[in-house]
Amino acid sequence: MKRGSQRVTTAARVHARFTQADVRAAVAGLRGSVSFQAPLREYTSFKIGGPADVVVEPADIEEVCLVVQQARARKIPLFVLGGTNLLIRDGGIRGIVVSLVRLRAIKEESGAVLYAEGGVGMPTLIGYAIRHSLAGLEWAAGIPGTVAGCVVMNAGTKLGEMKDSIKAVRMVNMKGQVVDVEAAQVKFEYRRALLPRGIVVGVWVELKQGVRSEIERVVKDYLHYRRETQPLAMPSAGCVFKNPPNDSAGRLIEASGLKGRRVGDAEVSMKHANFMVNRGQARAADVMALIGKVRSAIRRQAGVRLELELKIVGEP
Ligand code: EPU
Repeated sequence: MKRGSQRVTTAARVHARFTQADVRAAVAGLRGSVSFQAPLREYTSFKIGGPADVVVEPADIEEVCLVVQQARARKIPLFVLGGTNLLIRDGGIRGIVVSLVRLRAIKEESGAVLYAEGGVGMPTLIGYAIRHSLAGLEWAAGIPGTVAGCVVMNAGTKLGEMKDSIKAVRMVNMKGQVVDVEAAQVKFEYRRALLPRGIVVGVWVELKQGVRSEIERVVKDYLHYRRETQPLAMPSAGCVFKNPPNDSAGRLIEASGLKGRRVGDAEVSMKHANFMVNRGQARAADVMALIGKVRSAIRRQAGVRLELELKIVGEP
């Protein structure tokens, strides 16, 4: 499963010199929610992550535009949550962290096209598609991220990828304006969409009219497979490494005898070796140390350099 997060950097980010008063001013008057010094572990599937200066949940797309404009005017970096393939470091994230959870509208348009706002959860979108007998998203059964996260990462499983269904993407650009980008204008790579800079706030997916019971059956079977083979009941960030060409990171890690290996409360899952699970109080530093151990063991034993699928963000 692939779910991304959106980091919105401006040229000013590197030299950012903003104060907490700037942050307060930038988020003043929003109708959505605003939480200062918010522990980010509560916003991640890994249940790991230090505090954000502020987390905002804009009430609608207009408020996303407003937050971008306010942040830009004060040279405050923005980070957009939405992914679950994410490790936020123990020092948290400086600046404004945006959660799109309040953007949850779904609309059916003509010709088997659905428009979903960026904060819609993938499971919700799949449920909607099933109720409307629309096929094409079954591959994503069990992916817990938002549709915006899935777009940004070109989420995918063995059965398919996000790019197969995307017709167009609605974004808020760096000036805080809404722009619609046709899929044909976007280059999609393995677990990456080369989008213009900005925040994905909506997506049109083109599906196919199907038979409800058949779509339901595929989703159910796939969910069953995932539950049998992946530690979905424990906090994790999905697969940690990309699969190397013609191989599986999980297979390689298991073959190296690393299942169950721990640093603190971070553990290489016993169920699927390409998952790391948080047994309770794991810190990002523990996960990173475990990643280092796995990588060097695989390099040594199999001669393979594993690439991270997990995005690591924030301060140490
Ligand atoms: N395997 C092992 N040991 C393990 C795990 C896997 O030997 O601990 C073997 C399996 O027996 C199988 C092969 O490796 O022969 C492939 O395993 P699996 O079917 O679980 O698929 P995967 O390649 O490990 C990919 C995606 C998953 C996605 C599944 C199912 C990547 C990096 N991983 O896993 O995505 O859920 O297929 O479609 O592409 C994610 O991206 O977060 C993720 C979990």
